[in-house]
Amino acid sequence: MRAETPAASPPQNALAGPLTACPPKAGLNGDVRPPGDKSISHRALLLNALGVGHAEVTGLLEGEDVLRTAAALNAMGAHIQRCADGVWTVDGVGVQGLAEPEDVLDMGNSGTAARLLAGALAGLDGIACMTGDGSLRGRPMQRVIGPLEAMGARFMARSGGRMPLVIHGSKSLTPLDYASPVASAQVKSAILLAGLAAPGETRIVEPAMSRDHTERMLKRMGADVSSEAVGTGWGISLQGQPELTAIDVDVPADPSSAAFPLVAALITPGSDVRLRHICLNPARAGLITALQEMGGDIVLENARDAGGEPVADLRVRGSALKGITVPPERAPSMIDEYPILSIAAAVAEGETRMLGIHELRVKETDRIAAMANGLKAAGVRVAADDDSMTVIGGRSVPGGAIVATELDHRIAMSFLVLSLVSDAPVVVDDAAPVATSFPTFVSLMQGLGVAFERPDA
Ligand code: S3P
Repeated sequence: MRAETPAASPPQNALAGPLTACPPKAGLNGDVRPPGDKSISHRALLLNALGVGHAEVTGLLEGEDVLRTAAALNAMGAHIQRCADGVWTVDGVGVQGLAEPEDVLDMGNSGTAARLLAGALAGLDGIACMTGDGSLRGRPMQRVIGPLEAMGARFMARSGGRMPLVIHGSKSLTPLDYASPVASAQVKSAILLAGLAAPGETRIVEPAMSRDHTERMLKRMGADVSSEAVGTGWGISLQGQPELTAIDVDVPADPSSAAFPLVAALITPGSDVRLRHICLNPARAGLITALQEMGGDIVLENARDAGGEPVADLRVRGSALKGITVPPERAPSMIDEYPILSIAAAVAEGETRMLGIHELRVKETDRIAAMANGLKAAGVRVAADDDSMTVIGGRSVPGGAIVATELDHRIAMSFLVLSLVSDAPVVVDDAAPVATSFPTFVSLMQGLGVAFERPDA
């Protein structure tokens, strides 16, 4: 089979435009494997590009975000090629082997791509310019610029540390000892990637443990990485300038994408769905705990290890849910799942309180505002402040709203799921963002019995 080099810009996607969803009468039924994990897919390409040797990645998420990472790395001399559906090869250039890109790197909608790459480029012998779409250009980059500058890289950014960015790398980075103010795997990973190029030990303490896919993969590639509890937080140490050996990666299914059919099945009576090969890294599994506390019938089957990550199949059946309080310490393990949790909360009996969720204000959009506005428009009672949201659920949701997705894939998918249980349809104004993380969302949900309609057709 001939390998293809990914295009620099993903094509305009077929999901663009308004969309709504209707439930199957007997509930959702079927057995599906959601697409590859987005976080692990970015890292499988990026870390192998900094490795030595040849790697094969299977189950790679072919969403727009990950394609941006592939294209940017190719623009800097890595050799990343697509061989078949989800099967990609990477020939790495080694730590500090990336070359100055000729043109601006366009990271599209992807905060992970932009922040991790900023870390990898801190040790570049040259200059790189990076931009993104309207959502990414509005997101805070100072959280990575600060520590990377402390290591010796220089940055130019728009006011407020916003993109576009110019990164002036340094061949002689110094290691860093950094107390991160946020539990963010993107910040941690950016520093670790820069730390690869710095001689000596780079240490980060985060206020709570964020997802540890970078650490797990670096260890498998031969780096000396250790982590331990530090007070109420989490500390990670990395010895710089390792020789990283390229490794094959079998990417498990994304729990953050599985969350949509999972909640759709739970809230649609009569459903019985199996979701296969889901990554259940404890730093990602908070939603499952929360939904089980709400009374969701979710059974973990066949728990196993896949390429250094815990995975299991999930059997999910339609359930009557009740409201709960989700404690703030759980937020890092389900940070991307609050939009879909608030849909479950809308049909749960009683109040669901989500605490310590300030980080949602700086995601692809302000997700607290987007969820509160969309739910209110659909007739659901919601109260929100800077750091929390309360949804007052009930068995019946009026619906009949058009919801703005604001370039946010998870807002779009969440409200399509709400449409399955609302009295009148909920329409999302533009489903295009879904392609950033879950390009097969519509076909996977159709396979479970969901019908989609173009409201203006
Ligand atoms: C990600 C980390 C999280 C998450 C994002 C993916 C990653 O962001 O929201 O979707 O792959 O490192 P933060 O680290 O900024 O919380």
